[in-house]
Amino acid sequence: MPPVGDAVESAEVMSRSWLFVPGDSPAKMNKALGAGADVIILDLEDAVAPANKPQAREATRDFLMAHKQERAAQIWVRINPLSTTFANEDLAAVVMAGPDGILLPKTDSGEDVRELDRRLNALETAFGVLVGHIKIVPIATETARSVFALNTYANVSQRLLALTWGAEDLPAAVGAASGRHDDGSLTDLCRMARSLCLAGAAVANVTALETVYPAFRDLAGLEAYAAKGRKEGFTGMLAIHPSQVPVINKVFTPTLEEVAYAQKIVDLFAANPGLGVVSVDGRMVDAPHLKQAQRILGLTRS
Ligand code: COA
Ligand code: MG
Repeated sequence: MPPVGDAVESAEVMSRSWLFVPGDSPAKMNKALGAGADVIILDLEDAVAPANKPQAREATRDFLMAHKQERAAQIWVRINPLSTTFANEDLAAVVMAGPDGILLPKTDSGEDVRELDRRLNALETAFGVLVGHIKIVPIATETARSVFALNTYANVSQRLLALTWGAEDLPAAVGAASGRHDDGSLTDLCRMARSLCLAGAAVANVTALETVYPAFRDLAGLEAYAAKGRKEGFTGMLAIHPSQVPVINKVFTPTLEEVAYAQKIVDLFAANPGLGVVSVDGRMVDAPHLKQAQRILGLTRS
């Protein structure tokens, strides 16, 4: 049996909270670094008005350069969609500063990740950045077409770290007024896209990240929503405000009880290599539970 946690990439290990910061706001960038997020995402897309994009690219690159050596968090950049002319300008500005990854919005399919992989290969080579260093997470449910292609992300790129989804752009793409009902619950289309994101991530053998919880003053609501997401299979979550970070970190960190239970499962299978199914604390445990237990132990490694 392989050592526990081997399947979990180290970059993935501490990627519970992903805090968005507008790419044209150096003050918020500095604040974000101290927020305790595992990842901060400097946004060049929707949070930045078209007229501010050039200035945002510069601020984003400067911030990455200033924190090249010691980073309190991973620093990622959300670029504009590949179908826009902005995307190449974003990449040309930031790749030289070696971000940890690119969040790619509005992908139609895994082919978009392949395309970004190609563009990154060329730019990393040109700028002397280790080829393959920059990881990719697509926001894989933001176009109408994307919903029918969530099973296309397997084997598209070694850079693919996770899939995530969004509840803002997809409703707009089909002419819906919103992705949420008045009580905050997701529309059927969004619930379906969210589930397909989970399944698509499993097909691609990567993790899935829950989307943002927009009501950022409602931390109790956030905690309940995040806990539901974790139970359903998400391993981390996007955030829009520093106050959301501790809540997300807490929810997506396995408890001591969960770790102890997972260890029990792993130990039992290790001690009985011929067995496919065992009993733990009166419950039947087989291959999928072992996989889950290994994942929990992997997530706690730093
Ligand atoms: N990252 C870093 N700092 C942030 C922050 C963020 N995402 N959101 C808020 N802050 C800072 C504020 O600048 C403020 O700092 P200050 O006390 O030094 O002035 C402090 O946290 C408290 O902020 P608050 O007053 O509660 O919120 P706000 O009204 O200033 O901002 C938003 C609300 C939604 C505009 C802001 O949270 C934001 O910009 N979020 C990210 C938006 C984004 O990137 N969207 C794209 C993805 S959906
Ligand atoms: Mg958007």
